[in-house]
Parts: sequence; C-alpha cells; structure tokens
Amino acid sequence: MTGLGPAVPRVRPHIGCAGASLALALLAFAGGALADKPVFVHPFDGAPIETPLEEGEAETPALKEFKETGVNPYRDQAEAVADGKRLYEQWCQVCHAADASGNMGPSLVDDKHVYAQTATDVGMFAIVYAGASGAMQGFSGRITQDDMLKLIAYVRSLGR
Ligand code: HEC
Repeated sequence: MTGLGPAVPRVRPHIGCAGASLALALLAFAGGALADKPVFVHPFDGAPIETPLEEGEAETPALKEFKETGVNPYRDQAEAVADGKRLYEQWCQVCHAADASGNMGPSLVDDKHVYAQTATDVGMFAIVYAGASGAMQGFSGRITQDDMLKLIAYVRSLGR
C-alpha cells in the first residue's frame, strides 16, 4: 500500500484508495493462484527440480490434479492407500520400517523431519522422486509418479 501512495492523486483520495485496494485484491488473487501450483524442490538446496514423465508413463487424472494444485487426491482413498501399502512394503519398508517409524532411514510418521519439506505431500514427493543423501536414492524411473502419490497417501495414513 505504501509503495502506491505517491501515485494516488491527492484530490480524490477515495478513488485512489479503491483502485489501490482493487489492485491489491487482484494481486492477492493472482498470488494465491500461483502459490497453489506446486514447485518441487531438491531437499539439499531448495533448487527447483523438473519431474518429467518417463517414456510411456501416463499422466493419470490424480497426477495431473496434484501437479496443478499440490493436493494429493489419493489421500484417504481406501483403494489407493491399499496400493500404497503394497508399494511401501516393496520399496521403502526395508529402510523405514513396516510402520514407517524408522530403521536405517528416519521415521516418516513423526513430526521431526530431516528435511522440513517432508511435512507436505509436495515436499515428500520431491524427495521420493529425486532422493536425498546416502541410501535415500531417488525413485524416478523405478516407481511411476502416480504410484509415488499412492505411497505418500499410505504413509500419511499411518501418521494418525
Ligand atoms: C536403502 C534405504 C532406503 C530406502 C529403500 C528408502 N529410503 Fe527414504 N531415506 C533413507 C535414508 C537413509 C534417509 C535420510 C536421507 C538424508 O538424511 O539425506 C531417507 C529419507 C527419506 C525421507 C526424508 C525424511 C525426513 O525426515 O525428511 C523421505 C520422505 C523418505 N526417505 C521416503 C522414502 C520412501 C517413500 C521410500 C520408498 C519409496 C524410501 N524412502 C525408501 C533410506 C531409504
């Protein structure tokens, strides 16, 4: 608001104010819309990472929605969570334990995260996709992105 001050004509402050408010409202709206589209970042340096589909990999409706809104549509969907459980047992359990409370890899169900971004599905997706340090190798090319969403839905179902 203060930055707009000098441009507002003194004679008609009410109009200037309304205009400025409208401009701010529009800015807030645009900002909100932009903030909704998720940006995936690497856990080490916060640098944005691209998440292109593998050759032949389908962009499922759930994945499309996730990449547009950052909301994981598989959360609380029983069938997807059951798929996620099978995937978890196959790919993650060996290092994060059956109940995801941690083994050689950290717990995925408490609120103490190695990387703060683990708290959100967008942040966890980036870590599963791109990996972190040591044994935590990225799963891109090994697990489809749609399956990563199911995995995350399952892990979140454990943390309650
Ligand atoms: C070979 C062992 C191993 C496997 C398999 C593995 N992880 Fe990890 N994971 C780790 C280790 C070790 C870390 C800690 C990495 C670090 O500190 O940079 C980690 C870290 C993570 C983190 C960040 C946790 C935090 O506190 O910020 C997430 C999320 C995660 N793993 C999810 C998964 C998922 C989901 C799978 C299965 C698809 C998986 N991991 C498979 C070893 C593994």
